[in-house]
Amino acid sequence: MPEEPILVAVAWPYANAEIHVGNLTGAYLPADIFARYQRLRGRKVLMVSGSDSHGTPITVRADAEGSIPVDVYQRFHEGFLDLFLKAGITYDLFTSTHCENHFDIAQNVFLALKENGFLYKATQEQWYAPIQKRFLPDRYVEGTCYKCGYDGARSDQCDQCGSLLEAGKLLNPRSKIDGSTPELRETEHFFLDLGTLQSEVVKFLQEREDYWRPNVVRQSLGQIQADSLRGRPITRDLEWGIPVPIEGWNGKCLYVWFEAVIGYLSASLEWSKLNDQPEAWRDWWKNTDSRTYYFIGKDNIPFHAIIWPAELMGMRTKFDELIGSEPAVDFVLPYDVPANEFMNLEGKKISGSRNWAVYVRDFLTRYDPDALRYYLTVAMPESKDTDWDWKSFQTRNNDELVATWGNLANRVLSFTYKHWEGFVPEPGNLEVGDLALIKTIDEGFESVGKELEAVHLRAALAEAMRLASVVNKYLDQTAPWKLIKTDRDAAARVVYTALRAIDSLKVMFSPFLPFTSEKLHTFMGYTEPMFGEQSVETIQDSIGEHTALRYHPEKATGSWTPSQLAPGQVMVQPVPLFKKLDASIVEEERGRLG
Ligand code: MF3
Ligand code: ZN
Repeated sequence: MPEEPILVAVAWPYANAEIHVGNLTGAYLPADIFARYQRLRGRKVLMVSGSDSHGTPITVRADAEGSIPVDVYQRFHEGFLDLFLKAGITYDLFTSTHCENHFDIAQNVFLALKENGFLYKATQEQWYAPIQKRFLPDRYVEGTCYKCGYDGARSDQCDQCGSLLEAGKLLNPRSKIDGSTPELRETEHFFLDLGTLQSEVVKFLQEREDYWRPNVVRQSLGQIQADSLRGRPITRDLEWGIPVPIEGWNGKCLYVWFEAVIGYLSASLEWSKLNDQPEAWRDWWKNTDSRTYYFIGKDNIPFHAIIWPAELMGMRTKFDELIGSEPAVDFVLPYDVPANEFMNLEGKKISGSRNWAVYVRDFLTRYDPDALRYYLTVAMPESKDTDWDWKSFQTRNNDELVATWGNLANRVLSFTYKHWEGFVPEPGNLEVGDLALIKTIDEGFESVGKELEAVHLRAALAEAMRLASVVNKYLDQTAPWKLIKTDRDAAARVVYTALRAIDSLKVMFSPFLPFTSEKLHTFMGYTEPMFGEQSVETIQDSIGEHTALRYHPEKATGSWTPSQLAPGQVMVQPVPLFKKLDASIVEEERGRLG
């Protein structure tokens, strides 16, 4: 039976700010670890995302710096591509919402919902600035949340309690433009009829309640039970965005959240077209065997656990008809939404405006990507908020990554390279202890894999590390460095056993530490790469051009299977995989904050 296709849908970063370590550990890194693992398992993986380029997040930034939205979006978008390349986040396609394909798909989703009767027009009261003579949607108005009392809420969403807020209900509203008090005025908009879809949404959530993360279930099912779903406006009085595809609606756009989540689908279609297989997207989206995972931060939960599923349900099979794709089949609903909590920095909330942040691109000018990926996995906020602490970064790098795994690989490979002239030694007959070690390590493909499968990434990495210490103990006991002086054959047997264990561990570590695993793979004498390659491409369309990042898995040979290391394989002179960090970096780095 062919293995099930896996869609790895990753939150689309707003193209209005640099990505910091909290963003990376919140969504992009866990998605990449999961995708790399699933590819090693031999499953058909599609990992997509892009820049979230529209709406008030971008226009507010453009206003603040006296530029225009398209410039803001392009500048940050280029930075994202560079960052994801350097951090090894292997999107099959990282594109943008500002391109013809996405406009077209988003408008068709809108039309499908409309034709199925899930959209209605209504007049609503929206904040209006008399001085500028314009409506002030979403981020243009801040004030007090009417649900939890938090004073930094925006008019559409509260980051404190995670609620979606209704238009015009914010308390003590203030305009972001000049601090003045806006007034309410009537304006006409399209609404998504969530009330009619509520029972389907609840059923969808209940079917997943037993395996979803508790915080995700609580935030979605809990919210509906406390307060039933009501229609939500999905258009805005705004110029920057996707036009409402209805005559006479000039000057209004699709709400950024309504269209950004559609990006998962549009990027899948774009990827299919780029690969000259225009119907390929259906393997993930119109196939009951496929499993779709949405990697997001907790502030995005309602959009992915309620709104996006409702959009998918409401389209029925109308979308297929509109884009001329046959046969018409229902959409696959999210299988899991493993949302992460937040990562703080040295005990305080990360904040760009107060320069309380570690930006990934800056970080990577001083440290290696796998050191970052290691620390961000062990400190990943999977079930509660965590903290980036420079001291802990430095000690965990030195005491775990370098001491337990890096030194193990380095000392065994260097020793072998030196004493067996760069060949993997002939082991002779393995003894009970050697076979026991190999068995223990090989069982890691089960135990580490089980945790990865459940998106328990911290536990998976801890299990791989535990197995690395088992190999260290084996070496302490067998001491090949002494054995070589008295019994060269026995030393060869032990060294081969250790190499084979390291070769297997390399695979288990590789979703987390892809750069160093690939290096280690080369040192062991493999000539075909474990992973594929990433490239940046420019795509032209009627809106202009957009750059995109693509992962090409074709040449990848890595697989989630125990080592079969061949005696006699020609090795490459190894160098240490990781760097020990001096204690002085802690104060140095803390000095950069604030
Ligand atoms: N841009 C949003 C954020 O950074 C995430 C959007 S996820 C999407 O919070 F799917 F809706 F695009
Ligand atoms: Zn609130």
